Amino acid sequence: MTTSNLLATPEKWPHLLLPATGASGANGAAGAAGASGADPTDLDAAVAAGAFKALTAAIRDMTAGEIVAALAVSGLRGRGGAGFPTSEKWRACALAQADRRYIVVHAYQADPAVFADRLILERNPYALLEGAAIAAVAVGASDIIVAVRTEWSEAIATLENAIREAEAAGYLGYDVLGSGRDIQVEVKPLQGAYMLGEETVLLKGIEGRRGQPEQQPPYPTTKGLYGKPTLVHNAQTFVVIPGIIAGDSASSIETGAKDVHGTVLVQISGSVANPGLAEIPLGTAIGDIVAMAGGVPAPHTVKALLVGGPSGGILPPEAMKMPYEFEALEAAGAWMGSGSIVVVDERSCLVDLASVLTRFCADQACGKTIPCRIGLRRLAEIGARICEGQPRGDEIERLTDLAADIVASRLCDHERRSTLPLVSLVRYFRDELDAHIVRSTCPAGICHPMAVSPAVVVS
Ligand SMILES: Cc1cc2nc3c(=O)[nH]c(=O)nc-3n(C[C@H](O)[C@H](O)[C@H](O)COP(=O)(O)O)c2cc1C
Ligand code: SF4
Repeated sequence: MTTSNLLATPEKWPHLLLPATGASGANGAAGAAGASGADPTDLDAAVAAGAFKALTAAIRDMTAGEIVAALAVSGLRGRGGAGFPTSEKWRACALAQADRRYIVVHAYQADPAVFADRLILERNPYALLEGAAIAAVAVGASDIIVAVRTEWSEAIATLENAIREAEAAGYLGYDVLGSGRDIQVEVKPLQGAYMLGEETVLLKGIEGRRGQPEQQPPYPTTKGLYGKPTLVHNAQTFVVIPGIIAGDSASSIETGAKDVHGTVLVQISGSVANPGLAEIPLGTAIGDIVAMAGGVPAPHTVKALLVGGPSGGILPPEAMKMPYEFEALEAAGAWMGSGSIVVVDERSCLVDLASVLTRFCADQACGKTIPCRIGLRRLAEIGARICEGQPRGDEIERLTDLAADIVASRLCDHERRSTLPLVSLVRYFRDELDAHIVRSTCPAGICHPMAVSPAVVVS
């Protein structure tokens, strides 16, 4: 199976694993880019490697309908977490009646533990800009806004430099490639909390307004930025587009199960020997991803995998056989989310982990809807009571009923996803819950004032 190269390094998977520590350091991502000595804003080098070929074809040789059709054939699904088919969004945006449309590149990575979007800005800015420009051509937009975290100063500088270079060469700006079409790009640094990652909040942030999520529909594709049709995709989605339009087989349809196409960036951390980021073909077995990161050093063993970020599912070691792709993760009670896998070994208490994650999610809830605002807090309290050895009645039944009520009444996806950590414990780790509730024992020896299980060696 071939892979594309989303971060524009000369290496191919599995050599693309980048150290998490280096990547988040001042020079980490640049250092990673610099592994090849390549300057990511060197336009001549990028063009020699094929940059803007797809945009040129899209403008000169294709109709908007043909571009969207190519996307539909590729089966590309959004990389922002939920995996919605991209071509459906493009079609809806193109068909919406309006005098103006916007493209928003979502590079405000809300999850505190991930960094893939930043690396794309720093290492592959032309592919990102080209993907967004192709989208602008397809839906009839002339404005691209790249929403990015304020603190990513290096990424912002790299991107702004790349925009200047591309404008000077006629790939962006006024009269792109002599077509009479204008494509202006603005970088919008934003600062805020986790909820700013939700797309309707992000759009308000770009407009300079405070915000809470809006009920959808109407979707941003018909009523988005300044009330105009707006196409919002994660940066990782846009960076794939040029390869698809240029007919690069690695970016479009690959072998694999139905609806499993292309590659994704995955960030792996926790108890593995070499935490970092890798580009993998969708559908790669989770165990292979863990092995790429060096596995869990002996004498420790994989106890669980947190898949999908703070609102992800906690899966058992058997999930290592599972393919890393949208449907399989959903069926298992996890999701792709921000593209992270945290490997947990036997030294950690899963009830403690799930409770802390639920508390984080409750703290991040914007408070607009009561089941989320109050329900998540109550859910976190159930987890805390179990950890503290103070269960009240049938906590498992209470937890399960409350989670079902929260999911049923959701306004935005935060509510539904945030129940996953504790609900997945009920599904996969009933023994660990029972140890706390029935036997007042924490198998990992983390929860106090519980007894430590004699079966576990804590080192
Ligand atoms: C609480 C919350 C946080 C989110 N955070 C992000 C984020 O950090 N980055 C992102 O791309 N999408 C995030 N999303 C999803 C976006 O709302 C939106 O679905 C996505 O950006 C669409 O891009 P895609 O089509 O490329 O998947 C979040 C959603 C919710 C409910
Ligand atoms: S579900 Fe939660 S995060 Fe989403 S709008 Fe309601 S209170 Fe806010």
